[in-house]
Amino acid sequence: RTAYLNGTFLPLDEARVPVMDRGFLFADGIYEVAAVLGGRLVDNAAHLARLDRSLSEIGIRNPHTAEEWERLETELATRNGLTEGLVYIQVTRGVAERDFSFPKGAVAPTVTMFTQEKSIVANPLAETGAKAITVPDLRWKRRDIKSVALLAQVIAKQQAAEAGAAEAFMVEDGVVTEGSSSSVFIVTKAGAIVTRPLSHALLPGITRAAVLALAAETGLAFEERLINARELPEAAEAFYTSASAFVMPVVEIDGQTLGDGRPGPVARRLRELYFAFAE
Ligand code: PDD
Repeated sequence: RTAYLNGTFLPLDEARVPVMDRGFLFADGIYEVAAVLGGRLVDNAAHLARLDRSLSEIGIRNPHTAEEWERLETELATRNGLTEGLVYIQVTRGVAERDFSFPKGAVAPTVTMFTQEKSIVANPLAETGAKAITVPDLRWKRRDIKSVALLAQVIAKQQAAEAGAAEAFMVEDGVVTEGSSSSVFIVTKAGAIVTRPLSHALLPGITRAAVLALAAETGLAFEERLINARELPEAAEAFYTSASAFVMPVVEIDGQTLGDGRPGPVARRLRELYFAFAE
């Protein structure tokens, strides 16, 4: 596999970052993940706009224009022969003597990229539907920034894995914030698609935005409002969205079956619509 590090394409196992990198010491950096389908990046302008916003929110200069990023990502995907999978980008504040405040003087950000092959469309989990659990949301208060500080999500996803579930829905003050690596939606028994409105409390999901636009175009009713955790077992359907899962139907939450225990019609419809959009 070929990776990208600070201007150079090189074998992944030779791509090394110094111990004094602030990403390693402080999680002082951000990341972005975009899907590749049919050899092309999906909704990449939106991912690169979020990358730019994450950087500006933590005061790291964006080292590349969107055009440059896209050229680098495309070259990396081509070098890896990637037709379906993910491109990962990470930018940290760079290498400096350990000190909490930003380094004085010019420090070049550390830029790393790699790809992962993944069958996103022919994902068997989407056929059966995924199981989810609920966990407390233990994260900081700026979850709109795609920070590499992911320890709370790592623990949440591990709890899900140990429960035989694919995703953990994080709950704070009785309401669902989002999945550990996805945006959460329910479909009420009245047929409305519901997802939480954007704020500092959650990541502005790129797939979430595309799915809401597709729902609007298709005339499917949706509401952006808080989802009470108590609504989950009562929902007709639930699903989560992300660059790596697209639209993933959920059939069980905390051991309770939703509907007839099979992926629901709204989730399946939106998954199909998203495929058509992503192609
Ligand atoms: N995660 N919320 C969180 C906390 C996430 O980490 C992600 C994505 C999303 C969905 O965002 P998008 O639709 O833009 O992928 C929501 C990526 C896939 C990851 O960490 O691998």
